[in-house]
Amino acid sequence: MMGGSASESAYRVLMGVLESRTGQTLSPNRIWRIEMSLKPVMQRHGIADLDALVAALVTSNSRQLLDDTVDAMLNNETYFYREHSVFDDIASNALEHLRQINARQRRLTIWHCGVSTGQEAYSMAMLLAEQDRKWAGWQIDIVGTDVSYHAIGRARVGLYSQFEIQRGLPVQRMVRWFDQTEAGWLAKADLRRRIDFSVQNMLTDRPPLAGTADLIFCRNLLLYFSADMRKKAFAKLRAMAAPQSFLVLGAGETVLGQTDQFVASPRLRGLYEPADQQVRRPGIAPSIAA
Ligand SMILES: C[S@@+](CC[C@H](N)C(=O)[O-])C[C@H]1O[C@@H](n2cnc3c(N)ncnc32)[C@H](O)[C@@H]1O
Repeated sequence: MMGGSASESAYRVLMGVLESRTGQTLSPNRIWRIEMSLKPVMQRHGIADLDALVAALVTSNSRQLLDDTVDAMLNNETYFYREHSVFDDIASNALEHLRQINARQRRLTIWHCGVSTGQEAYSMAMLLAEQDRKWAGWQIDIVGTDVSYHAIGRARVGLYSQFEIQRGLPVQRMVRWFDQTEAGWLAKADLRRRIDFSVQNMLTDRPPLAGTADLIFCRNLLLYFSADMRKKAFAKLRAMAAPQSFLVLGAGETVLGQTDQFVASPRLRGLYEPADQQVRRPGIAPSIAA
């Protein structure tokens, strides 16, 4: 048996559905949690167990059931300023580089791919909003995308529980950028309007920002792709990236041995750059990627 009480074929079908819809594979420890994750979906749709869920997926053709099932199997773990030193480095280094590179057009585009319930994008939006004076006259676009419609729905609303708001968010930012309501902590309108959230499968959907993203966050989702999917994902990220741009991956992720589309940035620790045209300061010859 792969998980709990259901048949092995039910688990296989569910894992196959997840992979074909999102590219995500389930690690063994998450296979054990499938039944628990899908319980609310089964309750909502009046389905008794996992075998019955698989039968319903096959026979009912219900788009809603399929979306709910896939959504419930995704790992949406996230929190504010996750791996906070990354944000400190970006604030003091990457943004400075990008200010110089884009000084003429005065435009900055940030893409959070796999943004889940939004905390990562709100973290950047707060950071940039606090530098508003410095960016006066610039057009700053922050785009957050995720394959999970449930996660994007939550990101758009910007409402977080006491537990979520305390995870990684310093108190000063919490009170400055969120209002306490009966339902939880709600991002202020001035913060919400700074981010455009949409449902997107990064592997298959039409790219939202072809060739224009200056700073791309793609953290903690490549981890769960197979090697082939990861290659495809890197090609998509490269297609979105501006020629002189930075890519941010999760702490456990790297480009090494995964792709030749990006290389470790020679000047900004922990970040990556398109391999074919590394970031350079205006007027200075590019350093040639090997
Ligand atoms: C573990 S969360 C990471 C969230 C955030 N980037 C962070 O590091 O805190 C991974 C997110 O990637 C999303 N995801 C998985 N496969 C995806 C795909 N093919 N396209 C877009 N998003 C995907 C999941 O729905 C999930 O919200």
